[in-house]
Amino acid sequence: MNLSRIRRSSTAGLLPPFLLTSQTRARSSSLVRALVLVPALAFGVACSRPPASSVPANVVLSETQSTRGMVVSASAIASNAGRDVLAAGGNAVDAAIATGLALAVTYPTAGNIGGGGFMVIRFPDGRTTTLDFREMAPAASSPNMFVDSTGAYSASRHHNTHIAVGVPGTVAGFALAHSKYGSREWKSLVEPAVRLAVDGFVIPEGLAGSLRGTRNKLARYPASLAAYYKNGEPYAAGDRLILSDLGRTLERIRDNGRDGFYTGETARLIVAEMERGGGLITAKDLAGYQAKERPAVRGTYRGFEIISMPPPSSGGVAMIQMLNILEGYDLKSAGHNSPRYIHLVTESMRRAFRDRAQHIGDPDFVKPPVDKLTSKAYATELRKTIDENRASVSRATELVADYESDETTHYSVVDANGMAVSVTYTLEAGYGLGAVVAGAGFLLNNEMGDFNGKPGLTDSTGLIGTAANVARPGKRMVSSMTPAIVAKDGKLVVVTGSPGGRTIINTVLQVVLNVTEFGMPIDSAVAAARIHHQWLPDRLSIEGDGVPASTVSALEAMGHTVRMGGRQGTAHSIHVDSRGVRTGGPDKRDRDAGAAKQ
Ligand code: GLY
Repeated sequence: MNLSRIRRSSTAGLLPPFLLTSQTRARSSSLVRALVLVPALAFGVACSRPPASSVPANVVLSETQSTRGMVVSASAIASNAGRDVLAAGGNAVDAAIATGLALAVTYPTAGNIGGGGFMVIRFPDGRTTTLDFREMAPAASSPNMFVDSTGAYSASRHHNTHIAVGVPGTVAGFALAHSKYGSREWKSLVEPAVRLAVDGFVIPEGLAGSLRGTRNKLARYPASLAAYYKNGEPYAAGDRLILSDLGRTLERIRDNGRDGFYTGETARLIVAEMERGGGLITAKDLAGYQAKERPAVRGTYRGFEIISMPPPSSGGVAMIQMLNILEGYDLKSAGHNSPRYIHLVTESMRRAFRDRAQHIGDPDFVKPPVDKLTSKAYATELRKTIDENRASVSRATELVADYESDETTHYSVVDANGMAVSVTYTLEAGYGLGAVVAGAGFLLNNEMGDFNGKPGLTDSTGLIGTAANVARPGKRMVSSMTPAIVAKDGKLVVVTGSPGGRTIINTVLQVVLNVTEFGMPIDSAVAAARIHHQWLPDRLSIEGDGVPASTVSALEAMGHTVRMGGRQGTAHSIHVDSRGVRTGGPDKRDRDAGAAKQ
């Protein structure tokens, strides 16, 4: 097959997780090894009896199991906020809103009100829907907005300036979710986040380390330094962090709904921040932001139903395309993470990522051929191009992928009635642009970096010049976020998703395969070492030291270029078994992650 070439930008500070120092890699490798070995032990922790009658009385549930509600996120504090809403009678959408707003306080790396994302919902009767609250390009955007005065593409304009900020979508998305599917009063869903910001919360280890590591980035903006540092110095784990300006913004959102963000004082502060920093967002852009409901993209895998996010995310389409290709092979006999398994999964990734680069864009502007890409017939055609013993070669043409951040966050919610909500949202880079809106206390995204850099420009730094994803007024940039839900025979089975730029799609694919193909318990499915291939660069990355040297040698003998190390994604997931027992699978790659059971 004639596969075209994608190269990633090697811009300092924008490196993918696999381009880590050997020291970092060594640390990550031990972490991944521990994650693979330890998880089964967690299920030995018995602590409560199931209240539901469908579960036999002698079944003992662990700390991460429930027959009622479950919330799993990157922040145990935020999971607890969602769980409390469930306990007060809220449904999964209510809990997802409360969790998402709490994450905006306790997980500033990616939790946000200044960014955007996607929500996939499966109702107890099996109906599904999705909400698209991806950021939109301001009206002053144009395809050439990331070129400098000499006409050259500028990575700095694309990623590191106020023009990289898209019109935030999170508050509108949560407000839409609430108006259509929520059951509790809006104020009661925002209040937990208000309390966390105003009263403060105890800084956990992971956040303390993250803020220490990101000081140089945030220190470029006085309001960021003031919000997240103590007299300019990092807080220690155990200190209390109070975010007063953020608390006041959340109060306005609590009292006025979406208007508390998109109009009035918050909008005035955002526009002032844009004027100070040379950004493009106007009061009109803010007032005009629209979250959208879209039908879920759907597929099947060996009798399992796969439900995920359609464009402007590329995630659901690419994952279903890969599953369709893989359905034609006996993966179980090959064995999990065996050379044959990794080879076949890699070849399916190579093909899905080529099509992603070619076709996916905002469906309000372009028409991605979703039906074809997700069809079994197309998968059959693609399977014919795969040599079962030899790696294909990805070849460069005009198509090249550009930078996407690894910093996003995913959380999963299931309520007592079986309503499931899968949310992935993001500021793009870790802490987004790094700029807190002065006086409003929240971090701005730099999501415009997910648009292509310059029309027609395909070069060795890794830029794509295709029309599908160039910036235009009101357009949404392509995403890889893959919030997903799996069901079988009409019953909910898995809620999952992950951060990780383009690795997101492959992380979610493997969590789904680990459960559906290999029958792993959710903690093992989440902890198992992951692989990644994205067509170009033509490189197979394997997380940590997750496979033996003999597997690497076998893959190299097939023609794969293998890179070991790093970590890939954090897939906070929930599994529901045939009796209705929900098992939370917090991904321990996130230090502060937690499952909260109702
Ligand atoms: N910013 C990462 C993504 O949307 O895929």
